[in-house]
Amino acid sequence: MSDDRTSSRVAPLRDFKLLQEQDQSLVWHPYTQMQEYAQTEPIIIERGEGAYLFDIRRRRFLDAYGSMWCNVWGHNHPELVKTIQQQATQLCHASLFTVSHVPAVEFAAMLVDAVKQDFRYAGEPSTLNHVFYSDNGSTAVEVAMKMALQYQNQIGQISRTQFLTFHNSYHGDTFGTMSASNVDVLKQKFTPSLFKCHHATYPMQVDADEHESTRHHEMQLEALIAGRSDKLAAVVIEPVIQGVSGMRPLAEDYLGKIKKYCREYDILLITDEIFTGFCRTGPLIASSAELVEPDIVCLGKGITGGTLPMGVTVANDKVYSAFNGEWSDFRQFLHGHTYSGNPLACAVAIRNLQMIEEEKLKENVKSRSRELSYYLRRRVASHERVGQIRQRGLAVGIPILGEDGSEDGGYEARQDANRVCLDAIERSRVLLRPLGNMITITPPLNIEAEQIEEIVGAIERGLEVLDASK
Ligand SMILES: Cc1ncc(COP(=O)(O)O)c(C=O)c1O
Repeated sequence: MSDDRTSSRVAPLRDFKLLQEQDQSLVWHPYTQMQEYAQTEPIIIERGEGAYLFDIRRRRFLDAYGSMWCNVWGHNHPELVKTIQQQATQLCHASLFTVSHVPAVEFAAMLVDAVKQDFRYAGEPSTLNHVFYSDNGSTAVEVAMKMALQYQNQIGQISRTQFLTFHNSYHGDTFGTMSASNVDVLKQKFTPSLFKCHHATYPMQVDADEHESTRHHEMQLEALIAGRSDKLAAVVIEPVIQGVSGMRPLAEDYLGKIKKYCREYDILLITDEIFTGFCRTGPLIASSAELVEPDIVCLGKGITGGTLPMGVTVANDKVYSAFNGEWSDFRQFLHGHTYSGNPLACAVAIRNLQMIEEEKLKENVKSRSRELSYYLRRRVASHERVGQIRQRGLAVGIPILGEDGSEDGGYEARQDANRVCLDAIERSRVLLRPLGNMITITPPLNIEAEQIEEIVGAIERGLEVLDASK
């Protein structure tokens, strides 16, 4: 195609209007209704600094959604930029298929140590010792699922080919992870091409101090597992909080119960920590707070501090050992991607891990999340259209109730939350994103106290659009 839109792409002077037109017609944005997008003025980012993004019109926006939940240190942190620049002068890419490279080895060693440190109170020393690289969250989970299937096959459990996952779970957008997921609206158009998974209840506990019995859910879970104990390869779960389906916190201690049944029935436990990992809810590995060590853990998003794409799947010794053998046994793990373990991504992941300790990131998450909860309670929670706010660490969901006071309008009913977010963007220059009819807050993890207030202020003002519509 060579109409004047594409051929003028190389024009030396930046023409805002042209750039916007090209964006609206040539760039197909994820999960975006492009017809609607074409009728709005797109925000085109040119530069980032700290928690702020600056667009081509020099407007400054506070990145309260952490660039789709992955940002740890704000944008263009000088340490991370320097690390990427230095690594780029040495090696931009060498594939792990035939050779290895220094950053991949060093990051694997550091990560395994950090994971051991996180699980130090969980009983025996952690055996999560084997790091498999990929390049996004969905593939990290896809890898874990394939690993579980191949593991079961190679230990002779050839009928263990199924997965148990949870209602409202989200594990990614590849076919395997879509099959494992349970957010209907995201998968229903693909369902005929997906494989069947079993789904158990994910008991929510919105208020961390309110303990309701989960005994009946536990009994259902055990029945589900026991009834298929010879068929299940693994249980896959988002520990601590489900993100995409609407920031749904898991009942405290429930993960431990799931682990108990996995052990009893010899089923692998896979934790999908793409969202929760790397301190989003506090600890490096969220499930370590409940002293629950999985057989396989999946990490992504914050792993490079929010700079470059990377995913990892870390397996324990038990899983790993099932892949050993002679070449002729053909037991090697049958998976790999060209850019898996890219050196730039590994180098910045190393610096990210170092900075988490040096800068006491976990303490910042703790303090900021307390402040966030306090301000939300004082300035947002009492609004009549706001439902019970859900929060774990710096992951927050604010449900917008229907005019009749009803909560869940479903994923499609984003209308009112969307209006609040649009107002926050336009009037307060705070970038927020709705998730169904819920406003979510997932800021960079090194966010400052004043910026927390800025976000809450934007939501408080944004809620006025719902008053105005009465
Ligand atoms: C729990 C969970 N798993 C997997 C993914 C998929 O990650 P990615 O978007 O990097 O493919 C996400 C993304 O939001 C997620 O929240």
